[in-house]
Amino acid sequence: MTRQTHAGPGDRPSRRAVLAGGLAASLCAPFPAQAGSWAADSLHAAASAKGLAYGSAVNITPLRRDPAYGRALARECGLVVAENEMKMNYAWPEPGRQAFAGGDETLAFARANGQRLRGTTLIWHEALPDWARARINRREGEALMRRWIGLIAGRYRGRIESWDVVNEICGPEDGREGGLRNSPWLDALGPRYLDLAFESLREVDPGAAGLWNENDLELSADWINRRRAMVLKTLGGMIARGVPIRRFGLQGHIYSTHALDEARLRGFLREIAAMGLSIEITEFDVDDRAYPADVAVRDRKVADFARRFLDVVLDEPAVLNVTTWDITNPNTWLNANLQRRRKDGLPQRALPLDEAYRRTPLWRAMHKAFTDAPDHRAARVRLRGV
Ligand code: G3I
Repeated sequence: MTRQTHAGPGDRPSRRAVLAGGLAASLCAPFPAQAGSWAADSLHAAASAKGLAYGSAVNITPLRRDPAYGRALARECGLVVAENEMKMNYAWPEPGRQAFAGGDETLAFARANGQRLRGTTLIWHEALPDWARARINRREGEALMRRWIGLIAGRYRGRIESWDVVNEICGPEDGREGGLRNSPWLDALGPRYLDLAFESLREVDPGAAGLWNENDLELSADWINRRRAMVLKTLGGMIARGVPIRRFGLQGHIYSTHALDEARLRGFLREIAAMGLSIEITEFDVDDRAYPADVAVRDRKVADFARRFLDVVLDEPAVLNVTTWDITNPNTWLNANLQRRRKDGLPQRALPLDEAYRRTPLWRAMHKAFTDAPDHRAARVRLRGV
């Protein structure tokens, strides 16, 4: 494995490194601590040559049990995010018990490999422990939100490049104000919960970019068009109110059951960028449910679909990086999800490495997409979200 040093505006540790941290002494050294471990022929190397970054979600269970998993993440990634460990139901499972071990281990892994770190997620209706759900009401909701953001963003202050401040808040079909989806936070605090969450992060860790992370915006359907319209309107309102949002996260879970309308996706990203926000592809994978069982055919279709999607998003100068939702096929959440798993029971081939950590056709499509992408470095100076 060839070791690379940090280089280029896509890999910028300096601002983060000077921020004071709220961590235990063992975690206090500047971030990242050392040169990157990624290989010269890795996805991240191809991405960073264009001022982009490639990253992956980290599943803490194989990270602890299987050294080959850590080696694969180190070899390919310049950026990582804990898949679950910084969510409220994991990090604060009971009122009197906080559990930071998984988050701390993910941070330590990133630092040991010279990788940048994202954080997910501060406010997500699905990541609430029961005790907290019961306290999200008019009387206690705001204080609880501030306490939680202070706790988790405070612990990792100076270490996180961008936080998913709000996750999956779009739900026009719920008929609520502004097209926001039903959520205990909306019930308790009204739509201002968005502003409050971003402002709380700015107070706790002003160096971390505040990001709205959203799903089901990529593909072609009327209901998806309605979601895109809601996003653009809501972003416009937030910016007009001075809410400290710096980035938008397109999750990038693309599914073979729907078509991709390149022109519409391109236009949507352009409109977000025109507001001065930068964009991250935060949870990329390809759900292959609609493709045939044959592995060679399926891999080719997955790779083709991914390439068409990536060619659009990497063409947008405001896009900073692509993070896959884990890196190796057996770990994909798609196999565990009742709606997403394949009817024939075969495991999905959604990610760039196979069960033996070999590079798949999807890996090659991603590598080629990074290699062929326009150089993003010139665009960086014009964005407020970087
Ligand atoms: O580890 C336990 C296992 O011991 C137990 O037997 C099993 C029984 O349910 O649960 C296992 O934990 C599950 C965990 O995934 C690990 O597989 C949790 O129940 C399950 O809730 C958890 O789901 C995570 C989900 O977010 C909810 O937090 C997925 O791993 C994670 O991939 C998924 O990620 C989300 C993003 O945050 C937001 N966008 C969508 C994406 C996919 O759903």
